[in-house]
Amino acid sequence: MKILYVGAGFVGACSAAVMADAGHDVLLYDIDEEKIKKLGSNDIGLIESCLFEDGLGDILIKNKNNITFTTNYSEVAKCLDLVDAVFMCLPTPEKDGVAGQSDLTYYHIAAEKLAQNLEKRNNGLQSKYVVVVNKSTVPIAMVDETRGLMEKYGVKNFGVVSNPEFLIEGKAIFGSVHPDRVVVGAEKEEDFKVMRQIYARFLNSSSVKYIEVTPEEAAAGKLLANYLLFNRLAVTFDVVGRVCENFDNVNFENLRKILTSDGRIGNWGFYDSVYAGGSCFIKDAASLAYQLEEIGVGSGLVRQVLNSNNFQRDNFFSRAEKEAGFVWKDKKVAILGVAFKQNTNDVRNSSAINVVKSLIEKGVKEIKIYDPVAMPMFKALFDSSENLDYKIIDYFNSEKEALINTDTCLILTDWPKFMALGEVIKSVCPAPYLIMDGRRMLSVDFKELQNLGYDIISVGSLFLKGKK
Ligand SMILES: NC(=O)c1ccc[n+]([C@@H]2O[C@H](COP(=O)([O-])OP(=O)(O)OC[C@H]3O[C@@H](n4cnc5c(N)ncnc54)[C@H](O)[C@@H]3O)[C@@H](O)[C@H]2O)c1
Repeated sequence: MKILYVGAGFVGACSAAVMADAGHDVLLYDIDEEKIKKLGSNDIGLIESCLFEDGLGDILIKNKNNITFTTNYSEVAKCLDLVDAVFMCLPTPEKDGVAGQSDLTYYHIAAEKLAQNLEKRNNGLQSKYVVVVNKSTVPIAMVDETRGLMEKYGVKNFGVVSNPEFLIEGKAIFGSVHPDRVVVGAEKEEDFKVMRQIYARFLNSSSVKYIEVTPEEAAAGKLLANYLLFNRLAVTFDVVGRVCENFDNVNFENLRKILTSDGRIGNWGFYDSVYAGGSCFIKDAASLAYQLEEIGVGSGLVRQVLNSNNFQRDNFFSRAEKEAGFVWKDKKVAILGVAFKQNTNDVRNSSAINVVKSLIEKGVKEIKIYDPVAMPMFKALFDSSENLDYKIIDYFNSEKEALINTDTCLILTDWPKFMALGEVIKSVCPAPYLIMDGRRMLSVDFKELQNLGYDIISVGSLFLKGKK
């Protein structure tokens, strides 16, 4: 099949790479010249510098004959004469100032341009049937909007499909090669047929559920899946974690053993963290709440999950003053990890964004940051030529360099290598010193560090006052 991808972000680039690997002929279009240049460079280092995803570089290079990268719309227009499906992989962030409404501007701009060019395909004859596939996470009734847009420009011979993406950042390639489910929402058998050809490799798979539903069910399924996962995290952080932070002799890891032994409770999401960040959970839950409220239905539980996630982050930060009597003013602070989670360079809704802003408000003297891959993305958000307050932020090439000469550190990302931070801290930050562990990366070392005189504030633990 010939497939056009519009948008080469985490979803577009990973999905396009896997489709090319499945033997389809793929054109990947984006407006971002630098990104397209890097993704098409056949150089793993350059590919990872824009999208850090395990296996993406290898799969793009392996399939370079099946995938073309472009920012040139005339190439896109030419491809439309022959294309079977157009996968729309545009950002759908939360609209500024409207709690939860999706900002569909990127989608509309790309879809209008697509419609104008689809109308002209084959010199206006438009003979070939084409399916416009919403892979972006969109509102439940989006199919009507997409269809309306195509019709407005006189596009004929088309269908609209909702095929939500369930990838997990950091494991996107593995997840797209071995998905647990493929969800296709369509209105016509003709559209299901095209999608079955595109996903032929999964149709008879014993491990992949191939689910055909309405476009509305597909879009709702994506929003609800993210809400349920987010809800699980919020409950673990804000209820289980809170119990462990407030009762003597209640250890988070021991509670996890007790609770996850019950098959009905399950393992997923049973960790403690300063925040559930990333580009999806927060905005998708907010979008779900907004859509319910818009039609006059209550969304209290959805909003509560969003609130408790923010509370978790703010509460963790406030414990330094409240429990350790730590005064932030004029302190030097190390931040270890700015990616929203391990194995990605994505910093969207990372806890570090809000924490850095809070530190600046508190009047700290210096913020010393280290992250193995996400610092370039983070730097772009804190440009000191735009805001002089950001001049106190410095970036370092190792956790050790970031820690030297600081008064406290905040561990905000669960990079596996941070489990060895105890040794580094002992080597360069002599006690008394405050460790703020937002990921329980040092939980096995807490006792030893406390006995050496370190004060420790961790999510999921009572304040541990240094014993020396
Ligand atoms: N990132 C995830 O883990 C994930 C998972 C599932 C679903 N989603 C959803 O998929 C969608 C895309 O997410 P993402 O993480 O890939 O976003 P992203 O920001 O990484 O990528 C979006 C890309 O679209 C490009 N773009 C913007 N306007 C364009 C236009 N007019 N024409 C062509 N390209 C344009 C941008 O340059 C960018 O490269 C969102 O709706 C998101 O909610 C994301």
